Amino acid sequence: MTKTKHTPVRSAGPAHVTKMDRRAFLATGSAALGATTLGMPRRARAQGRTEISFASASFFGSETFGDLVDSFNESQDRVMVRYLELPPPSSSTEVYQGLVQQLARGNGTPDVFSQDVIWIAGMAAAGWALPLDEFVDDAMTSQYFEGTLAACKWDGKLTALPWFMDTGMMYYRTDLVEKHGGAVPTTWAEMAKMGKAAQEAGDAEFGFVWQGKQAEVLVCDAVEAIASNNGAILSEDGRSSRIGEPEAVEAIQFLHDTINEMQISPSDVLSWDEEPSRQVFTNGQSMFLRNWSYVWPIAQDPSVSEVVGKVGAGPLPHFEGGSSASTLGGYQLGMNANTADRDAAWEFMSWMSAPEQQKRVALNFGLGPSRPALFDDAQLNEEQPFMATLRPVFTGATARPVTPEYAKVTLALQSGISKALVNGQVEDEMKALSSQLDGIVG
Ligand code: GLC
Repeated sequence: MTKTKHTPVRSAGPAHVTKMDRRAFLATGSAALGATTLGMPRRARAQGRTEISFASASFFGSETFGDLVDSFNESQDRVMVRYLELPPPSSSTEVYQGLVQQLARGNGTPDVFSQDVIWIAGMAAAGWALPLDEFVDDAMTSQYFEGTLAACKWDGKLTALPWFMDTGMMYYRTDLVEKHGGAVPTTWAEMAKMGKAAQEAGDAEFGFVWQGKQAEVLVCDAVEAIASNNGAILSEDGRSSRIGEPEAVEAIQFLHDTINEMQISPSDVLSWDEEPSRQVFTNGQSMFLRNWSYVWPIAQDPSVSEVVGKVGAGPLPHFEGGSSASTLGGYQLGMNANTADRDAAWEFMSWMSAPEQQKRVALNFGLGPSRPALFDDAQLNEEQPFMATLRPVFTGATARPVTPEYAKVTLALQSGISKALVNGQVEDEMKALSSQLDGIVG
């Protein structure tokens, strides 16, 4: 049997991607985004099978999504899926732009694609993602979390099939929490105080590391800080901005102060996305880390982690009078409205979203299933114990603005918040950003 070619980069050991791997991932991904690869004419039907393509951002894990595709190809003899690996989700904005260019060509490639949850509205409103209602019924949809299903709908139609969820969480060093106060901090102020104490005692180089790079992840960190202070980016109807309000300004000011006032975060966080901050934490250099669930298995892997057995994970802190908030992330499956073979595309998508594959993704990538039943799975609870305890975090996560204009909204947010963090004129920058957002969504 012919195997679909995929993934030039494999990590030798379990669950990690080194700096080199990451560069290679990015390089390969950019190439894959180019017209040449994505727009390649279809190969003739592989051994009598219908060939379709699947494009996805590459997540860090002990295997790749290409391995899942291989398993699908081996599981039946009607459909052959060709895997197109895109850059990792830390390049969410660029991956979106590349995918949009390709989908706009209208040639049906890729037939199936994974969608960052923030793309769903835009892909649906543009008519690129096919509504899936003809393929699903209540018996099927009732097996998914309601919140995830809601995030997969646009204009009342299901335009993405739930796959996995990702949420921001707080990682901490259990040994240092023990030494510096005992209880895991629940407010940002307590966290900052404890981080500072550990830093001053020489137990950690940094109190807290996070992601301040001008990229999608900065929006995620900002949403969490703002929502944990009872603020929001947009009003409930999505038509006006709330980012100039005191709750939001105070939250961004806090992020700025972690670097400049409290000095618990290095100014390097302003150029870090997920992996650089993760590496600093698993090297043992920081007491606290904000990141996604993929970090958990890496932190347990002695070949890359200096902190095995000393890491806890829980909800992020909140401001006094607020409550913990976690950004809703994750990737869902979309069908190209121009696919030449809807049935083949559906066969593959529904296989990817089935319990068995979701469990495999949870075990091997540390990503949250969109099926509640899997949270009771014994093997999953044993291998990824944080997942069950964080079920409320997974299910109660805060969405980024849901709008077909998200691509514009995020670019404005990335640039405005980044300016505020760099120049320290937080209130002025947030006011300017707020008017800009009003212009986009109003
Ligand atoms: C994570 C999330 C995704 C988010 C991205 C930002 O991969 O799943 O929703 O946009 O990080 O870097």
